[in-house]
Amino acid sequence: MISSLNISPSSSLHRSLILKPTNYYYYNSGAVTACLNVDVRVSGSSLNTSSLQEKKSAEIIADEKKFIVGTYARAPLVLSSGKGCKLYDVEGREYLDLTSGIAVNALGHGDPDWVRAVTEQADVLTHVSNIYYSIPQVELAKRLVASSFADRVFFCNSGTEATEAAIKFARKFQRFSNPDSKEPPYEFLAFTNCFHGRTMGALALTSKEHYRSPFQPVMPGVTFLEYGDTQAAVEAIQSGKVAAVFVEPIQGEGGIYSATKEFLQSLRTACDTSGCLLVYDEVQCGLGRTGYLWAHESYGVFPDIMTLAKPLAGGLPIGAVLVTERVASAISYGDHGSTFAGNPLVCNAGIAVLDKISNPTFLASVSEKGEYFKDLLVQKLGGDSHVKEIRGLGLIIGVELDVAASPLVEACQKSGLLVLTAGKGNVVRIVPPLIISKQELELAAEILFKCLPVLDQASNK
Ligand SMILES: Cc1ncc(COP(=O)(O)O)c(C=O)c1O
Repeated sequence: MISSLNISPSSSLHRSLILKPTNYYYYNSGAVTACLNVDVRVSGSSLNTSSLQEKKSAEIIADEKKFIVGTYARAPLVLSSGKGCKLYDVEGREYLDLTSGIAVNALGHGDPDWVRAVTEQADVLTHVSNIYYSIPQVELAKRLVASSFADRVFFCNSGTEATEAAIKFARKFQRFSNPDSKEPPYEFLAFTNCFHGRTMGALALTSKEHYRSPFQPVMPGVTFLEYGDTQAAVEAIQSGKVAAVFVEPIQGEGGIYSATKEFLQSLRTACDTSGCLLVYDEVQCGLGRTGYLWAHESYGVFPDIMTLAKPLAGGLPIGAVLVTERVASAISYGDHGSTFAGNPLVCNAGIAVLDKISNPTFLASVSEKGEYFKDLLVQKLGGDSHVKEIRGLGLIIGVELDVAASPLVEACQKSGLLVLTAGKGNVVRIVPPLIISKQELELAAEILFKCLPVLDQASNK
């Protein structure tokens, strides 16, 4: 077993070798044998990844418990490499990944065009402050504008930051649009089962009480209405107090619930008559996941603001807020900003992702595979008494159960399939890389089917 590769920081080798997170571990009667795969690329890193990877899962999990703030109830998996829709743990076990890092790795792991965009850009320029111009940021913004309802883009670093920016833009827009009012509309509407992030503003807009309550008081002025209750929403918007309505066209974390066209159209009309802004959160459902580039395109009802994040840079941290010119005209220098946002590295990655996903052939393949997979799931799982509904659009799919989903998710994991939970814990959430093959979807459906009996065992306990 190779325990480390001794290359001193001063050696020229140190600057020219990257020890690739290896998927060449062989699990051999309890002993892990590593086969180092040395990849010749330019690197200044001093982190010897091979020695880290030779720690086995249990040791890394124990270190995590000791050194990391305990905000995550993690699955007991230490993942070390990935390719396409496959992930590998440090013991060399292979997993079919239908989580995509929670709807992030839309192109799968290690997409060659994405890797090229990142490595070439890293070689030239990774970061400059937003006090200067940089080419990839402007190019990505141009492409987002060309492919959407929007006229301008603000970049940030995550979904929750995109929500925060949208909150500020909506407040500023109302102030700008109502210059004579002592109290321009400042309240917000959001809906049951929604998730908009975990920073203090976004948290205030997130429906799950137990996410918010430990941190009260959160931003005041938010009303939660039933997702789909058109009458209540229209009445609230007509009160004239609401600055913006935040809505996910398809709710992800909340349990894969889709809005109806009538609901979104009524929000649009009420916003237009009252001067309120309509904000779509497409952080999870956007960018090709539904088979449409933007989920709202399937409804033909357009927002004033749209937030994006997760898949946009293929795994690097990014957020974006797309706005109409009307909204942008209310925003002045200094109103908002971020050190890292829109740096050349993430934006070049974003260009590679957007170019690939926005190709109509790619989008059509997502729709086709989504339909195929949903049909397959209905055939394989639909007859089980615990399965209440299989829903979703494209490759954002929920399997609602009448019991907790976690025993099934854990059984799948042990059988080499990674899926997520959602909703009140009773929904299996499936958000695979958009590049997944039909054969991989068939394998996933088969594993889910074979693991279903654990639900009987769990519900009999
Ligand atoms: C719809 C939606 N909005 C916002 C967020 C927050 O994104 P982030 O975790 O990048 O802050 C998420 C995250 O799951 C999300 O699903």
